[in-house]
Amino acid sequence: MMPAKSASPDQPIAVFDSGIGGLTVVSALRRELPGEDIVYLGDTARVPYGGKSRTTIERYSEEIASMLVAEGAKMVVVACNTASALALSRLRNVLPVPVEGVIGPGVEAALAATRSGHVAVIGTKATVGSGAYAGALQAARSDIRVTSMACPLLVPLVEEGLFDDPVTDAVLERYLAEIRAGDADALVLGCTHYPLLSRAIARVAGPGISLVDSAANCARVVARHLDEAGLRAPAGKTGSLDISFTDAPDDFLSVVRSALGLEAGKVRVRPVPPLGQ
Ligand code: DGL
Repeated sequence: MMPAKSASPDQPIAVFDSGIGGLTVVSALRRELPGEDIVYLGDTARVPYGGKSRTTIERYSEEIASMLVAEGAKMVVVACNTASALALSRLRNVLPVPVEGVIGPGVEAALAATRSGHVAVIGTKATVGSGAYAGALQAARSDIRVTSMACPLLVPLVEEGLFDDPVTDAVLERYLAEIRAGDADALVLGCTHYPLLSRAIARVAGPGISLVDSAANCARVVARHLDEAGLRAPAGKTGSLDISFTDAPDDFLSVVRSALGLEAGKVRVRPVPPLGQ
């Protein structure tokens, strides 16, 4: 573990994702915690993480998070389901600041939403393959049934801006068929891109299933951590948002920004040094 530093409320919260989708978490954090300075780094040079191995996802996540902590972050938010599923314990072991991901908050929200005790989860191949959601749901409530479905085509559809499109609906029909045939009544959007597709997902999933957006609950859990640690930004402060990427972002950034109503500041491109440098 890196040497412990004493964090102070004035320091920023660092948020990272494999790319641009994590801005859905930033948007939820801005609503919940308008006084916090947020530094966002999207790893566009190495996206997608969703088909990569645990070793690689852990390494990428540690490189980014260590850099952001060395730059003065008081807390790290892993705004990527894949990195949360595969690298959260590693980050919690090596970083001297609190680390929150999106899986725990998603599980909490799913348990609050389900009445039937049957929860469905959709995400990338790596997230679903890790069993992180199913494991955490069943650890919290052993009687919970979980149906998980990897949906690898959804990220590219979102990145093409096909939020309301017959092609997206057709892909969703295929992915959600098994879930629709069962009695799950809560569907976890286990990928940071999916909140942008929530209209289409709700349309195809049907009225009997409520969508669980881990981003929104993640922001509430982060607020709780800050209060517990005495790290909440001073009252009355207006927080800033600093966005950077590891490679030049494409048109998807403007699509996301307008979908989320995020204010447009200057976006930087900067590299992440390998560990030990
Ligand atoms: N950000 C990733 C997630 O939430 C999706 C994109 C990727 O595969 O890297 O799982």
